[in-house]
Amino acid sequence: MDIKIDISKTLGFVSSEEINQYKPQVEKALEQLHNASGKGNDFLGWLTLPSDIKPQLEDIKQTAALLREKCEVIVCVGIGGSYLGAKAVIDALSNSFEWLNPSKPQIVYAGQNIGEDYLFELQTLLKNKRFGIICISKSGTTTEPALAFRLLKTQLEKQQGKESAKELIVCITDKARGALRTLATQEGYKTFVIEDNIGGRFSVLSPVGLLPIACAGFDIDHLILGAEKMMQVTREKSFENNPAAQYAAVRNALYAKGKKVEMLVNFNPKLHFMSEWWKQLYGESEGKENKGIFPASADFTTDLHSMGQYIQEGERHLFETVISVDQPKHEVDFPYDENNLDGLNFLAGKRVDEVNKMAELGTMLAHVDGGVPNIRISMPQLQEYYLGQLIYFFEKACGISGYILDVNPFNQPGVEAYKKNMFALLDKPGYEEASKAIKARLS
Ligand code: PA5
Repeated sequence: MDIKIDISKTLGFVSSEEINQYKPQVEKALEQLHNASGKGNDFLGWLTLPSDIKPQLEDIKQTAALLREKCEVIVCVGIGGSYLGAKAVIDALSNSFEWLNPSKPQIVYAGQNIGEDYLFELQTLLKNKRFGIICISKSGTTTEPALAFRLLKTQLEKQQGKESAKELIVCITDKARGALRTLATQEGYKTFVIEDNIGGRFSVLSPVGLLPIACAGFDIDHLILGAEKMMQVTREKSFENNPAAQYAAVRNALYAKGKKVEMLVNFNPKLHFMSEWWKQLYGESEGKENKGIFPASADFTTDLHSMGQYIQEGERHLFETVISVDQPKHEVDFPYDENNLDGLNFLAGKRVDEVNKMAELGTMLAHVDGGVPNIRISMPQLQEYYLGQLIYFFEKACGISGYILDVNPFNQPGVEAYKKNMFALLDKPGYEEASKAIKARLS
């Protein structure tokens, strides 16, 4: 029982021959990844992370256990690849109503926006609470987490005293560079290293994702075991036996046919943030040199009542990739009602999941009929082991797909443009020229 891919519902839109034409490119991409001979080959540490991380798992678990023991709330500070993976896994595994009845400690996030009200409300929540901070920033200089960290560290030191606060702060950053490393060394915080050869959006299986996930009480050993299994499966050169190779090939074949938007779709609300993580992974890796499939997402059936009309009948530039979870964790049977005023007695005795599965099947058939090709990725259950598989599957496919597109999937030069303007507008020292230019442009 593993993650499986089904591309049969793309075949009305691309032929098997057209998909098979990508075989040589896929093989070349696999070779370039495995031999580190392609673009961005100094950022391939994620490829073997499921094995390489194992010696650190004990330390991560012990640190998580200490934070869990000492804290009512743990704030994970980070943005982009430094937070989305952890949030995706924690949300996928957590009770949907955890926030109303928090088991201790509660995991919350900061540094993923610059919302003043968000930060005020977080500070208010943390008032007089024993809280800990995990500050995650590879560069150690990203504005959003740096700003949130300063605010939270100040509050923690006020509430606990500087010495006790030190016990409640963990930093995950570069081994030598960046302001966060300097600060952590100076203050004597516990730290974990993000290796040079692992980019943010490929870092969820490093301490970046594993420490918050362990703090939330989930089993990181099984997450890593699942990822390791997928690492073995996706080393396979034969196209037919490598799901990541098939996914990369079929999405590129669809792109070449004008399907420029990929919607990652789930039928389980717990996977909402898995889509957010996936969007960053693919958007930042492929969207460059005026190329790249636009990654979008939807939660079904919820969004069938908002986006369903467009998907069925709007511009035909979409394809869907559905993550389908075979088995829910719990069972809810639909009851019989004497009066049957809602007309739903035909569902009596059925499980709610059966209704959901028929919605999934019905949607797939309708969308395919409407001109939307469908890739289906099925996972047996929402469990750590399969989430580890899913994460590694998407990462490997992203590397292959980026090489097929002939871009460097491991850099993100375009992210700098907004930062430069923001710093110029805020009169950051060193940005004097840019500041003059941007102000003249706006006057
Ligand atoms: O994938 C990436 O590299 C980015 O999304 C980063 O993760 C994000 O910008 C945060 O950077 P940092 O960890 O340096 O604060």
